[in-house]
Amino acid sequence: LIFEEKGRFEIETTVLKETVDLQTAKSGVNETPNYFFFLDSKGFVEWVISRACDHRYGKLALQRDGEHAICPRHGWSFSFTKLCYTNIDLCKKKQEFEVEDNILRINHCSEKLVLPNSLRTEQPRELKIRFISHACLAITVDNVTLLSDPWIAGPAVRNSWWHSLVPSDDALDILFNADLVFISHNHSDHLNYETLSLLAKNRKSMPFIFPGWESESVGRVLSEMGFTDLFPATFGEIYQVSNILVSVFESGDFKEDGGLYFSSGNFSGLLTADSAILNKLVLPEVDFLATGFVGSASAFPWCFDNFTDNEKRRINMRGVWAAREEVRDYINATNPKFILPYAGYSTLNLPYDKYLRDNTISNSVSDIKRLVDDMDGDRVCIEPSSSLVAEFDRKKNLRTREESRQKLYQLDSSFMQRFLDVEENECDSYKESEVVKYFEESRYDDNLVLYVIPTDIHFLEESIGFIVDFGAPAVEANIVSREILNKEYEMADDTARRHLFIKARKSPFWKTIHEKRPWGEFIYHCRIRRRPNIYNASFWEHFSNSYIMANDVL
Ligand code: FES
Repeated sequence: LIFEEKGRFEIETTVLKETVDLQTAKSGVNETPNYFFFLDSKGFVEWVISRACDHRYGKLALQRDGEHAICPRHGWSFSFTKLCYTNIDLCKKKQEFEVEDNILRINHCSEKLVLPNSLRTEQPRELKIRFISHACLAITVDNVTLLSDPWIAGPAVRNSWWHSLVPSDDALDILFNADLVFISHNHSDHLNYETLSLLAKNRKSMPFIFPGWESESVGRVLSEMGFTDLFPATFGEIYQVSNILVSVFESGDFKEDGGLYFSSGNFSGLLTADSAILNKLVLPEVDFLATGFVGSASAFPWCFDNFTDNEKRRINMRGVWAAREEVRDYINATNPKFILPYAGYSTLNLPYDKYLRDNTISNSVSDIKRLVDDMDGDRVCIEPSSSLVAEFDRKKNLRTREESRQKLYQLDSSFMQRFLDVEENECDSYKESEVVKYFEESRYDDNLVLYVIPTDIHFLEESIGFIVDFGAPAVEANIVSREILNKEYEMADDTARRHLFIKARKSPFWKTIHEKRPWGEFIYHCRIRRRPNIYNASFWEHFSNSYIMANDVL
């Protein structure tokens, strides 16, 4: 398969001016629809900053104290004294503005991408999108099939997630016969080891396209599995593959996640995978949008013991609402006619995950249908099933049909037990010395102390755990008793250093250490406490994207 570089999108900029009559403003921080500005006691504007939250573009709201703003989506907090967030090491840039005749003028630029006309390909004779499972779609243009994020066989996320829509019995054949596979990021509901190891046995020469991060967090895993035809894409570059144009965009929220644009003739689509504010929402308009929607596809907050159940429920509800707002943002940014809620078809099926299963609140497809119906424009929300085929004609009319197929497997307890047994048996090789070596070789440097202890499936602690000091000149990992581990954590001074306590089910913990699998993968098998109670972003990033699989740490 030949990838031809075709160039980049054109950028269309619209300048919107926001004006404020300063006679109506008060001394201190003022809020406009899109900005905050500070008026000093002499009536001069000191600074202007955007209200867009740098996490995922929620809108920061001024608090009563006049000194803080809070983002309603996930609760980030911003201080006007420092012009920085208080929960993360990040500050805001001041905006340009002008004042004339007591009128404050701020220019607001909105950008979108436009596919150059010269790049458009021929109109295809056939264009269809088959829902395979979760985030796996098979996009067929004439006789070329591009397949996204194949999670088809077995569980994901270290046996925590199981298909809620079990794929059809032809799903693996569709994968094996695809022409190109897109992998958005290295979480196993997108880069699925079970599925890809079957593909590797069958066809190591399968071409893959994926985001070209420096960490090679996708490419390294694929290469270690034996695949040879790997194409790390430059973000925003347009490539032609047969009669299809494709481009990969990067998630805008610090996560290593990506999305895929495709177009053929007059039809175009965007798959966002789990990305938030893909390319900072500077995107092309498309006809078809497949986007995540559940708002609960993370172990936070239910696996974090610093919160009461009521607090967890509130955080979860806020996340679910925020996910709907993100779907709305994507629709506003790309103006699609057809919206497919995808990447949200998993369940926590194991008996020991009852607490998570009973408590986690998620958006349903009906919630997204309602949202789409309530928005302006003539839009259609497509509800997937295990063998849904959406066909689009030259005039972009949609016809849907179901392939009548059997399920690929029966999701019952014996099916699930097979996978648990494999992991349990692998744990026979558990060695404390290898855990110590794993941490000591991690080359992770942070003002953080990790306390980690293996447990049984119900989080009953074993007698021996590990304290790992990532702030020492070389990482120091020590084997300690359960009593010392707990005491050291409780007594630790959290004003100068951060402390992270993880109870981890032993088998998935060992698999993660022994095979250097991403930590993001086994987080459902953890119960976590933090002092202070903040997100240790660089720790999770390092152990999920950099220190994985291959021997070298990049
Ligand atoms: S906290 Fe602002 S968008 Fe997440």
